[in-house]
Amino acid sequence: MTIRTVLVTGGAGFIGSNFIRHLMANHDYNIINLDKLTYAGNLENLKDVEDNARYRFVQGDIGDAEVVGELMSDADAVVSFAAESHVDRSIEDPGTFIQTDVYGTFVLLEAARQAQVERFLHISTDEVYGQSIGDQRFTEEDPFRPRSPYAASKAGGELQCHAFRATYGLPVVIARPANNIGPYQYPEKAVPLFTINAIEDEPLPVYGKGLQIRDRLYVDDHCQALDLLLHKGELGEAYNIGADNERNNIEVVEAILEMLEKPKSLIRFIEDRPGHDERYSMNSQKIRALGWSPEHDFEAALEKTVEWYKTNRPWWERIRSGEYRDYYERMYGRRLAEAKPYEEAG
Ligand code: NAD
Ligand code: TYD
Repeated sequence: MTIRTVLVTGGAGFIGSNFIRHLMANHDYNIINLDKLTYAGNLENLKDVEDNARYRFVQGDIGDAEVVGELMSDADAVVSFAAESHVDRSIEDPGTFIQTDVYGTFVLLEAARQAQVERFLHISTDEVYGQSIGDQRFTEEDPFRPRSPYAASKAGGELQCHAFRATYGLPVVIARPANNIGPYQYPEKAVPLFTINAIEDEPLPVYGKGLQIRDRLYVDDHCQALDLLLHKGELGEAYNIGADNERNNIEVVEAILEMLEKPKSLIRFIEDRPGHDERYSMNSQKIRALGWSPEHDFEAALEKTVEWYKTNRPWWERIRSGEYRDYYERMYGRRLAEAKPYEEAG
């Protein structure tokens, strides 16, 4: 396989921007970043690479076959991040998730087939398995039981990748990563939301009793894993990418408050997310056998993340002054007004 140009979709988002920075630093590839710039896309995430001669940004929708077809003919490999990515927004408006995560993925695959690209690395998610019950740890062989509109849309996108492999021999590889944390994550997601609210002495809205469990993968470790899969992943195979950093939400919130030296009285228990998955837990032996392991344990990953938000206030202040304000009010206004304080719920 000879890669000269990589088409990255969704590269203006959280993981995509970190991955583009990683690719630019570690390879001499040309990179085309196709991103629609939805509320979650932010070109400030890529300020440090925008003038590099090997980097090109194109604003466009992965569901637009014309734009995708044109760019695909210049690409040897594709790394597809573009998606609607937030569970709570999928509960409000599932249709846009179908449009991008299912239909958009199809458009990319079809164009990749026509252009005969050499590698198509698709970023799926651990959420396709649904929730782990008890000690259950998912392997790549486990069935899909998605429970949120987001997870179901991601499952639909991934299934098409497998179909294109089996039917047309398209050289796909699939990543199923755990919850990422790190720089440039839009603050609708739990860790940046809690961190920024704590910095601002605002309440931290914890769903239900805060006992749901997630595995926290530092975004740089994830980028290393994706680099490995792009070059060494077996065609047609899916790979779990977990860090074995499982914590429940209360443990996460308490660790953030401790790092920022803020009181636990900022915690509020609010009405739960409907269909809230209790736990995501994966066995990642398959990618570890290829030679990957994460460098950050939970504390190191969280410390670096919290530190980044502490020192990059202008980045999140701009976000909080825009669309995010209405979203926050819609999502949290009533629920926070009705919330239980920490001591009472404890
Ligand atoms: P994000 O929401 O931060 O970024 C998504 C990017 O995709 C944005 O830049 C947005 O503008 C772009 N986009 C959305 N719709 C588009 C469209 N129709 N056409 C072109 N671009 C479009 O998401 P993220 O957290 O960086 O996640 C990246 C990928 O990784 C997603 O596929 C997500 O499902 C998956 N994933 C994320 C996590 C996580 O913890 N963040 C975990 C597992 C899997
Ligand atoms: P999130 O970052 O939305 O990721 P996902 O639901 O895709 O795993 O949420 C992580 C966990 O934090 C999840 O159990 C839901 C919970 N959560 C809260 O308790 N409060 C919040 O305000 C948010 C956004 C999430």
